[in-house]
Amino acid sequence: MKTLIIVTHPDITSSVVNKRWIEELNKYPDKYVVHQLYKVYPDERIDALAEQKLVEQYDKIVFQFPYYWFNCPPLFKKWLDEVMTYGWAYGSKSGYKMSGKKIALAISVGVDEREYSRSEKYKYTVEELTRPFELSFEYVKADYHPLFAYYGIELNSSKEWIERSVPLYLDFLDSL
Ligand SMILES: Cc1cc2nc3c(=O)[nH]c(=O)nc-3n(C[C@H](O)[C@H](O)[C@H](O)COP(=O)(O)O)c2cc1C
Repeated sequence: MKTLIIVTHPDITSSVVNKRWIEELNKYPDKYVVHQLYKVYPDERIDALAEQKLVEQYDKIVFQFPYYWFNCPPLFKKWLDEVMTYGWAYGSKSGYKMSGKKIALAISVGVDEREYSRSEKYKYTVEELTRPFELSFEYVKADYHPLFAYYGIELNSSKEWIERSVPLYLDFLDSL
């Protein structure tokens, strides 16, 4: 069964790391299906029914995005609001269509991992800061897995640093 990777990046042409990850995933069409929200919906009008039908076809779904303002880019939040609706994602006998599906986040983070800790600048880990996503997926009875995060891209966007993330990301996807 293939893994569905739902990518939300508002400016993929200027992207360094997410673009590289997509390029890599596209080498394995038998394993991964990449669905880029800003590409499919350039006007940001999500076809919720089409998204629900897509999600229903996969047991493993990864949401990949760059970390923006300690959160996700807006189209992913819109996706959660408009796709994970009452009667489909939760709240009725026929609902809970995401129940049991393996779900994980894959996030590129500008700042170094060190800064995301109690004693440092941002006080919380990215795992803690992404708790609303965890709670949302738990709410719809999905099987939420610990996230993949690749840090420090603002400080070091060298080819070496970006390439180092590729096998780590693929290993993470394999481990789901
Ligand atoms: C609007 C905006 C907000 C950002 N906010 C954060 C942030 O809150 N924390 C952080 O560590 N990095 C932040 N960054 C850095 C991005 O996470 C980083 O540039 C991105 O993950 C790199 O991925 P890309 O090469 O695919 O664009 C921000 C960048 C932008 C453009």
